[in-house]
Amino acid sequence: MTRRLTGFQPTGNLHLGNLIGAMRPLVAAQDRPSIAMIADLHSLTMEHDPARVRDNTLTVATVLLAAGVDPGRTAIIAQSQIPEHTELHYLLECATGYGEAARMIQFKEKSQGNTSVRLSLLTYPVLMAADILVHDTGQVPVGDDQSQHLELARTIATRFNARYGKTFTVPEGIRPESASRIMDLADPSRKMSKSSPSAAGRIGLLDPPETIRKVIARAVTDTAGVVRHDRDNQPGVTNLLEILRACSDREPGEFTSYGALKREVTEAVEAVLTPVRARYAELSEDPSHVRKILAEGKAWVQPRAAETVRRAREAIGL
Ligand code: ADP
Ligand code: NA
Repeated sequence: MTRRLTGFQPTGNLHLGNLIGAMRPLVAAQDRPSIAMIADLHSLTMEHDPARVRDNTLTVATVLLAAGVDPGRTAIIAQSQIPEHTELHYLLECATGYGEAARMIQFKEKSQGNTSVRLSLLTYPVLMAADILVHDTGQVPVGDDQSQHLELARTIATRFNARYGKTFTVPEGIRPESASRIMDLADPSRKMSKSSPSAAGRIGLLDPPETIRKVIARAVTDTAGVVRHDRDNQPGVTNLLEILRACSDREPGEFTSYGALKREVTEAVEAVLTPVRARYAELSEDPSHVRKILAEGKAWVQPRAAETVRRAREAIGL
């Protein structure tokens, strides 16, 4: 069956969008072979705190487990622990044009105004291609921000296969439904993100209930005064309705006021996050258990990764 790979950046601040858009679909699809990869090498492409890199990785792994990812069915791995990722990265760089990498929108955005751009920021999409190809991944769930990178991975795989002989599975991007895109509560024109400059619009998965209640209470709405699902004209209210729909099993009913809507959203979010928080607290008491799960994930997927790298080396003539 087609293998699926979902990546998570270990930059802290995991939020409700990550849970709804990425972790839940991962949990829902656990009958298929899947890999949840924590992209710890990615955090090195920008300025970072060395003391926190490892902790952030462990936190993401712990949250994945708390959210219901079953390590017996989904391999949870840290990118840096499987050297085949970086070995294939180099081989793929030799099949990628400088111009192709420099064209990436995310590179342009992140490098703009940055006077000390790291080379790894430019080549990161090639590492992402290696992450995907090394595991013979067939499907990659990607949001808008990653679709150009996935296209590059497909281009590299196709080119490599044509030049050196069939070596890689060419991965397909699968899109989360638009309903699963959660927007920032303080600025519903942008998606809720770990990297938003402000936490005012973010519902953190591990935030205390009181903080979440305040964030929802202060969510930006509009002056229409009517609760309607209308993405263009009422993006804030529509986002709240989407969050409600995602966090409860029934369709949202009628609301007479924004306050009433917000109260119901708060309750629904709380009901979803309470068990996640509780499992997280439990798992956090034994970090060695989580480290062991990462080691098991590595042991599980590494033989196939090594085989892919062997194939690639042989095809190139090494
Ligand atoms: P972030 O943008 O917060 O840094 P990542 O890039 O690490 O998040 O994405 C991790 C996963 O979570 C990806 O599969 C991504 O599509 C999903 N995701 C991120 N933000 C949202 C959101 N606001 N709504 C739905 N899914 C999201
Ligand atoms: Na992102």
